Amino acid sequence: MKKLAAGNWKMNGTTSALTEVQALLAAHPAPACEMLLCPPATLIAQMATAASGSGLLVGGQDCHPKASGAHTGDISATMLKDAGASHVILGHSERRADHGETDALVRAKAVAAMAAGLVAVVCIGETEAERDAGKTLAVIGGQLDGSLPAGATAATLVVAYEPVWAIGTGRTPTLAEIGEVHAFLRDRLRGLIGDEAAAVRLLYGGSVKPSNAAEIFAVPHVDGALVGGASLKAADFGAIVAALSA
Ligand code: 13P
Repeated sequence: MKKLAAGNWKMNGTTSALTEVQALLAAHPAPACEMLLCPPATLIAQMATAASGSGLLVGGQDCHPKASGAHTGDISATMLKDAGASHVILGHSERRADHGETDALVRAKAVAAMAAGLVAVVCIGETEAERDAGKTLAVIGGQLDGSLPAGATAATLVVAYEPVWAIGTGRTPTLAEIGEVHAFLRDRLRGLIGDEAAAVRLLYGGSVKPSNAAEIFAVPHVDGALVGGASLKAADFGAIVAALSA
């Protein structure tokens, strides 16, 4: 399976940041892995235009479960698709925390994303207190069960394991801990969607940077990364793309 280097710009970037996209494409015109950037919604259309004809895919960071209607400030999966997106991040821990998103809501959003023809990048991950209490696998197993839509396939679903305590902190789990979680996720996915599970990309996210990318990508069942801070700079994200392409 092709690995996936995904970048989540979060609430960062205005038009001037698109120079980073040009620099990324100049340095990596034909990477061996898939490359995805998820900018703020305001930049999706412009980034999609800049990426047109290149290997770069563009995604949203959230969508509403409904296709249209009276939901002020929200964006539907159909609208993301129309703006040029191919993917959408769903259930990021920042949305689960800031907006009270539940597994059931994430699942409804994933259903909407798939119906609109988008790949759903579903995020799960334990808090530090949950890890310290030995509940990591129980928590992420429950999130996976509750967040995945029926009928998900390797072509419509990517799963991102992002330990909450590793996001933006510079701290990461040990390679053994990442390996334990990813092997568990592959197994749990098989129970949910059968043989298709073997081809679903399982991303690791949380303080991925050029200096730790290669060792994390060598862990079995790590099929790519979901990168926050280091995806904002072409040089850093490009180094992660290179590590995944090796
Ligand atoms: P950082 O790479 O900045 O730790 O963020 C990870 C993340 O939340 C990606 O979705």
